[in-house]
Order: sequence, then structure tokens, then C-alpha cells
Amino acid sequence: SSHIPVITIDGPTASGKGTVAAKVAERLGFHLLDSGALYRLTALSSMRAGVSLIDEHAVAQLAEALPARFANGDIFLGEEEVGAVIRAEEVGNNASKIAALPAVRQALYALQLAFRKAPGLVADGRDMGTVIFPNAKLKVFLTASVEARAERRYKQLIDKGISANMEGLLADLQARDERDTHRTVAPLVPAEGAYILDTSDMTVDVAVEQVLHWYSLL
Ligand code: CDP
Ligand code: CDP
Repeated sequence: SSHIPVITIDGPTASGKGTVAAKVAERLGFHLLDSGALYRLTALSSMRAGVSLIDEHAVAQLAEALPARFANGDIFLGEEEVGAVIRAEEVGNNASKIAALPAVRQALYALQLAFRKAPGLVADGRDMGTVIFPNAKLKVFLTASVEARAERRYKQLIDKGISANMEGLLADLQARDERDTHRTVAPLVPAEGAYILDTSDMTVDVAVEQVLHWYSLL
């Protein structure tokens, strides 16, 4: 399947990867891989199973047998739709902890490759261009200032009726950036040849058009 085109969109939390990736996939009629959801599902499974988040072997076993299913924007863990549940900040923070365990990343590797199906795939995460799809046709690294990203998260939570505290969000976001950037396996860095897009002062639609434009030039 290595001839099937892949567009990778990596970047830090709340840079807009998920939103931009979904729109680009829709415009091109491509499949979508929200790789962060797999780490979030693994974190949720671990929390529910009462497994310690530093027990690499136990967490990797859960990842290996992850009953994850994606259907029309819904995310299932077994029979349960958990799309909203896994968006909680606590699950995101725990996802970033278990994502630093090499055996967990290894356990999720084959599952991610299987998303590469005709006519193409848009994959978003941290290591889509560096580790999972190094031969992707187009690699994008989305960024935005930490302030812009904290504001986006804040707005997302308020819109969902969840109370949020800006200072706490900013601190969580910086802690997550720190962990994701400095871990030894698959750290968050732009892939070789990646196009860097700073969306601090950019709307989602402009970012989507830029990615489509780059793709059209290949
Ligand atoms: O939406 P947000 O960027 O906050 O998070 P996400 O993409 O859903 O990913 C949650 C966590 O999973 C991140 O903080 C990363 O530590 C981890 N992750 C990863 O290590 N590799 C990926 N390809 C995707 C996510
Ligand atoms: O997936 P990731 O954590 O990188 O971010 P997201 O959940 O896709 O986007 C975070 C929020 O920022 C969403 O509500 C987007 O609509 C918003 N956003 C924005 O306001 N401007 C952009 N250029 C990109 C995203």
C-alpha cells in the first residue's frame, strides 16, 4: 500500500491539526487517522482497568488489544461511544504520559499503518511524518503560539459548556508540550521536508486551503 498517497499533519496540542486534517480529508475524499485518539483510548482503557500509567507492559497489552472503532466521526471503545469522554483534559494528559512508553507506541504501530487505504489518507498526530508514514507525499507541521493554542482550548471547552480556567490550561499545555517534545521515543519535531505552517493568526479555512494548495503542487 506504499503507493497510496498520505498527507501527514503533525503539531503540538491545539494547533488545529485535528480540525484541519478532517477538512482536508473531506475535500479530497481521503480516509482520516486521528492518531491522538488511539493514545487517548489507550489512556482511558488503562484508567478504567486501574492499570498504573507507568506500568509499560500492562499499558502496552491494553494498546495491543485495543477494541477501537471509528465510524462517521464517532469513536468506539468496544460497544461504547467515547468521542466526548476521551476529549477530557485528564485523558489528554494521561495520553501524553503513556505515549512516552516505547512498548505502547510499538503496540499501536500496525493499527495505524492499516489506515492507509485507497484513495488516500490524511493522518494527524505527533509522529505521522517522522515515524509512521516517513514516505508520505506531503508532510505538514502545524504550529501556533502557546497563547493562541490555550485560547483555542479555552473556547472549545466553554462552547461545550465545560468551565475552564485559563491559567490552568496554559500550564497543562506547557507541560504537555514539554513532555511531547523532550521524550526519547518519537519526540514532536518537524519531519524532514515538512512544510511549516504557523496558524497563530490564521483561520481554519485559510490553513486548509494552504495544505490543499501544497498538495496540488506535488
Ligand atoms: O488534541 P491534542 O493535540 O491535545 O492531543 P491528541 O492529538 O489527541 O494526542 C493526545 C496525546 O497523545 C498527545 O499529547 C501526545 O502525547 C500523544 N500522541 C502521540 O504521542 N503521538 C501521536 N501520533 C498522537 C498523539
Ligand atoms: O487537534 P489539535 O489539538 O491540534 O487542535 P484542534 O482540536 O483541531 O483545534 C483546536 C481549536 O482551535 C478548534 O476549535 C479549531 O476550530 C480552532 N482553530 C482555530 O481557531 N484556528 C485555526 N487556525 C485552527 C484551529
